[in-house]
Amino acid sequence: SSLGTALARIAPAPEPAPAPQVNLDDPNSITVVVNKQRPLQPAEWAPSDLVMPQGIPNTNGQPLRSEAAGALQQMYQSASAAGVPFIITSAYRDYWMQTSLFNNYAARDGVAAAETYSARPSHSEHQTGLAADLDDGSGCAFMSCFGETATGLWLRENAHQFGFILRYDNGQQNVVGYIYEPWHFRYVGVDIATDMRARGTVNLEEYFGLPAAPGY
Ligand code: DAL
Ligand code: ZN
Repeated sequence: SSLGTALARIAPAPEPAPAPQVNLDDPNSITVVVNKQRPLQPAEWAPSDLVMPQGIPNTNGQPLRSEAAGALQQMYQSASAAGVPFIITSAYRDYWMQTSLFNNYAARDGVAAAETYSARPSHSEHQTGLAADLDDGSGCAFMSCFGETATGLWLRENAHQFGFILRYDNGQQNVVGYIYEPWHFRYVGVDIATDMRARGTVNLEEYFGLPAAPGY
């Protein structure tokens, strides 16, 4: 029919844009967002693809998820070439290790103080296998002065190229729930890390339009 002929001449509609591969809820997702309002579910979830990062000094011998480990190795090569190598002071911590850590900090400093720098079990990015704490061995491990070391400054400027973000920046406690942790880097993938950098958005909550998570 003339109608059919006319329709056949119309260019096919373009495919709809694919849904972004961004899942904020599934703990298997590279983009899972974990904070004081967003526990891992199930509570004792553990990754199934943990590997030991190769060639990087690793104080506690803790693994990372495979994709994050590969990215960290690349970042280590680049940092070393720039004269600012780092060591890993912590990486994957399971539910029970986080329980023990948090309880020890709470016993030492009180629960309220501990909660400003340590996550309750199920609420730590370390349980995702996507977070690594880094240091340069100069005496600023887990201290804000790491942010002013050459290594800390290099990481702040370059981590996005490898898919990492400085997760708990200075002055973000009312959103992210924790004091400044210039040593804690979270893998989110190069696209998101680079886009956050370009936009000047320093935390995942604002980037993804999620509520602030200052407390439980
Ligand atoms: N230090 C970070 C907040 C954690 O315990 O996961
Ligand atoms: Zn950390």
